[in-house]
Amino acid sequence: MASPQTVTVQPASRVRGRVRPPGDKSISHRYALLSALADGTSLIQGYSTGGDCRSTLDCLRSLGVSVEETGRSAEGLSLRIDGRGLGGLRAPAGILDAGNSGSTMRMLAGLLAAHPFASTMGGDESLSRRPMKRVIVPLERMGARIASTDGRPPLTIEGVAAPTPIDFEPEVPSAQVKSAVLLAGLHGNGVTRVRESTPTRDHTERALAAFGVTVITDAQGISVKGGQRLSANNLSVPGDISSAAFWMVAAASLSGSEIVIEHVGLNRSRTGILDILKRMGADVAIDMGSDGPGEPIGTITVRHGGLTTTEIVPREVPGVIDELPVLGALATHGGELHVTGAGELRVKESDRISALADGFRRMGGDIEEFPDGFHISGRERLTGGEVDARHDHRLAMAFAIAALGASGPTVIHDAGAAAVSYPEFFSVLESLRA
Ligand code: S3P
Repeated sequence: MASPQTVTVQPASRVRGRVRPPGDKSISHRYALLSALADGTSLIQGYSTGGDCRSTLDCLRSLGVSVEETGRSAEGLSLRIDGRGLGGLRAPAGILDAGNSGSTMRMLAGLLAAHPFASTMGGDESLSRRPMKRVIVPLERMGARIASTDGRPPLTIEGVAAPTPIDFEPEVPSAQVKSAVLLAGLHGNGVTRVRESTPTRDHTERALAAFGVTVITDAQGISVKGGQRLSANNLSVPGDISSAAFWMVAAASLSGSEIVIEHVGLNRSRTGILDILKRMGADVAIDMGSDGPGEPIGTITVRHGGLTTTEIVPREVPGVIDELPVLGALATHGGELHVTGAGELRVKESDRISALADGFRRMGGDIEEFPDGFHISGRERLTGGEVDARHDHRLAMAFAIAALGASGPTVIHDAGAAAVSYPEFFSVLESLRA
């Protein structure tokens, strides 16, 4: 069920409980895309119920892929996807709608660049403002022709059957760009390599391996040889650590709180949040479960601890880019946080630096904005107030977690944006009050 558009969040004295977070958004996209390319039928469990991952499925259906929703449980959706084989997508009849999802647009662009037909991909108002040159440049070098509005969506992509292999270093560390290039390269003749100055999440590499593709990661970068066929697989998506981050921060913020998060993904390229929470004073316990094919999964328990002053430095940013708004919320509960090297926040679903500063100030917070970061001092308790999530799911949820520590209620406009990654967020929040 979609969250209502405007939500009022009341302060809380503490939060306690057990949560199973929704299926990981990043991994869901990749399992769907690779299932579509595979030979045979893949069964995916725990697929994210969020709007972004639905956009990926809708686009794949428009490209001739049969996707059947066979069930729905607390873990997420169960899907049956009949792969069309490498290079087997069909030209769509109309415009592909990526909705609010940058991941859908950028990663699918990699696949469309490797198919010899023209297609147009668009999205909502927020996505239409987001930079796409970062995928246009390498994919054009590989032979595709891509028309855009000054580097922004909609994108009209004329792909080629066998993209030219490239050796590429993205200008900004980005898992989406890395994935787009590797996915296009998979369809080429030869080895495509992506070099990373700072490592980004490696879900594409792991997912490719789970579908039987050899991917080599070494000092030179990440390389894939084109022409490798994918074998269908049955895979379970772990819980999303970026969604779980909201509950971890809620527990860390309020004294007497404890939240246990089960079946959550513990991929090292995503667990930067745990290190930073510990540094900020939280009591964090990690119970690693099995590391089967695909992704490591385990349980995280977070308890309140005294909050301290913390700095997040540029090289840490790619590992916590999606968690920075909620780490900002943690600082409002009595800590202090200084973030730099995070200019990418300005080109996410909203300008997250300016929107966060605006929202926290409206709640009585003390936040200074920099071109590439922010400084929050939580010495004064928030008062609550009226804020705008600006159609950005992570802001809607970060404001809600900050609101728990305020002296009065907080009205969050556009809170329904949370449904992009976590449709159940506001009902879970109410269930954790203790
Ligand atoms: C994602 C990568 C990150 C992240 C986004 C999901 C992915 O974006 O912010 O929410 O699934 O690869 P960038 O690749 O733009 O850094």
